[in-house]
Amino acid sequence: MVLATAVFMLTTFIFHCTWVTSSAYSSPSVVLASRNPDGSQHIIDDFREAYYWLRQNTPEDAVVMSWWDYGYQIAGMADRPTLVDNNTWNNTHIATVGKAMASSEDVAYPILRKHDVSYVLVIFGGVLGYSGDDINKFLWMIRIAQGVWPDEVIESNFFTKRGEYRVDAEATQTMKDSLMYKMSYYRFNELFGGNAPTDRVRNQKLPTSSPTLDVLEEAFTSENWIVRIYEVKKDDVLGRDHKSANAFMGGKKRKRTRPSQKRRIAIAEA
Ligand SMILES: *[C@@H]1O[C@H](CO)[C@@H](O)[C@H](O)[C@H]1NC(C)=O
Ligand SMILES: *[C@@H]1O[C@H](CO)[C@@H](O)[C@H](O)[C@H]1NC(C)=O
Repeated sequence: MVLATAVFMLTTFIFHCTWVTSSAYSSPSVVLASRNPDGSQHIIDDFREAYYWLRQNTPEDAVVMSWWDYGYQIAGMADRPTLVDNNTWNNTHIATVGKAMASSEDVAYPILRKHDVSYVLVIFGGVLGYSGDDINKFLWMIRIAQGVWPDEVIESNFFTKRGEYRVDAEATQTMKDSLMYKMSYYRFNELFGGNAPTDRVRNQKLPTSSPTLDVLEEAFTSENWIVRIYEVKKDDVLGRDHKSANAFMGGKKRKRTRPSQKRRIAIAEA
């Protein structure tokens, strides 16, 4: 009896330990989990999807620029060099990325080209309501950049006169011109079929027309729009600047598959 009880308890203990370890140590932050209305688990796998895309579809030496939080993930999962990662000993490098993100296309483009950047990656939570996105981290990028270039990046220009941090029609011009804003909301209106697009993180309604991009071209957007990757255009073959080349191209747009509306709504409700 004693032996049987001891064996039973030890066996149960193994299962218990396995369960504790799996829930405590293996919920990686690259995969997000949510619950469906019926209680089943729904996995949001946009990060892996995007890193896999990078690994499969870009040249091995293509440099990817993103905020430093994602540097190691890109290096490890996409196997591509990055500008900055968690090794933040040189503040100037972080500030350079912050400046590029906070600047207009005209200012950002020389920075991107100087550092050989081929792709820019942003995290956007507005579709799903994922609050850890780059627009919410944007103030840090601005502050760190301002620390190095106090005359060029000015935090107060990103706040409205009433001191609010807004992304809707009342957002400041500096905000609307910034690369981060444009990359986040590019084509966002297409999801709403003519209605005012709603950002689910910041609970603000955006203008019905989305921003345009001249020096970047959308390369990849993950299923729930959490990861958006843009390719940096090379110099125009005819020597035009990108703005006039774009205007010449008119409405010619590449066709892309869109995440299914139904699925997104189901996730949002979950
Ligand atoms: C990178 O730094 C952030 C903030 O300090 C931290 O939350 C994260 O776990 C770090 N990631 C890695 C891979 O070290
Ligand atoms: C940080 O990087 C910048 C630009 O690459 C360089 O000029 C500077 O010397 C570096 N700082 C340190 C402390 O190495």
